[in-house]
Amino acid sequence: MTVSDGVTGGSGSGWSDRFEEGLHPSIERFNASIGFDITLLQQDLDGSVAHARMLGRCDLISAQESEQLIEGLETIRQEAAAGDFNPGLEAEDVHFAVERRLIELLGPLGKKLHTGRSRNDQVGTDLRLWLRQQIDAIDGALLRFQRALFRHAEEHLHTLIPGYTHLQRAQPLSLAHHLLAYVEMAGRDRQRLQDVRRRVNCCPLGAAALAGTPLPINRQQTADDLGFEGLYANSLDAVSDRDFAVEFSAAASLVMVHLSRLSEEVIFWASEEFAFVRLTDRCATGSSLMPQKKNPDVPELVRGKTGRVFGHLQGLLTMIKGLPLAYNKDFQEDKEALFDVVRTSLDCLEAMAILLEEGIRFRPERLEQAVASDFSNATDVADYLVAREVPFREAYQLVGRLVKLCLEEGILLRDLPLNRWKQLHPGFEQDIYDAIAPRQVVAARLSEGGTGFAQVEKQLQRWRPVLA
Ligand code: ARG
Repeated sequence: MTVSDGVTGGSGSGWSDRFEEGLHPSIERFNASIGFDITLLQQDLDGSVAHARMLGRCDLISAQESEQLIEGLETIRQEAAAGDFNPGLEAEDVHFAVERRLIELLGPLGKKLHTGRSRNDQVGTDLRLWLRQQIDAIDGALLRFQRALFRHAEEHLHTLIPGYTHLQRAQPLSLAHHLLAYVEMAGRDRQRLQDVRRRVNCCPLGAAALAGTPLPINRQQTADDLGFEGLYANSLDAVSDRDFAVEFSAAASLVMVHLSRLSEEVIFWASEEFAFVRLTDRCATGSSLMPQKKNPDVPELVRGKTGRVFGHLQGLLTMIKGLPLAYNKDFQEDKEALFDVVRTSLDCLEAMAILLEEGIRFRPERLEQAVASDFSNATDVADYLVAREVPFREAYQLVGRLVKLCLEEGILLRDLPLNRWKQLHPGFEQDIYDAIAPRQVVAARLSEGGTGFAQVEKQLQRWRPVLA
């Protein structure tokens, strides 16, 4: 028996009998995906087990043949677990590698597995099974990241941090409020991935090469067996759809955007200029030359790796855009992109979670000092006058003048004696000093979703059941 008969087009064997010569060795290497699609081995075995079961139930093969095929596939799984399944380039891809080994194990019966199936619907099935599982892993990693943020938020409800717009001091915030903004972003990431997951979880198996099959297969059965929620309604669409890969990469890109923005903040928070956080030794690195250095490599790497995820999204879109229906070999390029998007997102989420868990300590004394020494309470002076019936725009102009005056004299608003406040507007009373104290400035912002402590406490309460 020639085991590879008709199973692969590698250099040492033949395709169907229309082929007379083997592949050029360089082309064999160029064509092969086994080097990376071996990642899909478990899913390929799962898909084949479900397919073999269905073939038996539909009497396309006998019940006994179906069982033997399944046993053979499970043997391959065990061989792989023991490190004894190492297909070479001649297998071309994971699908052929499995089929080839099955024929080695079972003889002619192994040749029945591919009945009513093509590698086109097979690869689509494998990839979706794999991605579904990875989406669940990313969801778990996002949850851990949210929890790590939440723990700091619980601790720092009453810690103040300068709030910025244009990276200029704007208004002080509760640090918890700042951190909970990232919890919200990660929450949307999780929702988005769940939404993508619904479309990933649709079964193309049974579309065969492109047109379906004349054999009486049961697509619903394999789909149910593999835990898919639905079936592709159109066989051409089934084998040529890679929207799910793009959608997933877009969702992962947004995860990376969020991680990268937080990274950027941590990087400058850790600088001596800000000194809002201290990096612990667990997640920081030194310099090979400058002994005083402690570098924020983790957030820098996360920020840096963001680009490659965006790159894969762009690569996938470009790879697909000119393809006629149905399967084209170009699709083989989707795998390394997706594998890297998944690996990078998971690695970065884990690293950021660890950074938050044990890599940074906030410095409340520094934060406190920062908010106490600026003009980020200027809006509150205007709001004070608004409460005394001064139109906002008029109050705004007036306070602008006040700030200018203070800047010229090198003092802060709280340093102005009451008589000078009154010179500017008779509405000012002694209570202006309380109104512009940073803690009061934060506490007062009680509009829904605002940074007022009572409002932030509400946010904490909303997340606590999920994250505490
Ligand atoms: N290795 C291929 C891929 O990744 C599997 C499908 C091959 N199908 C084909 N008709 N050549 O897309």
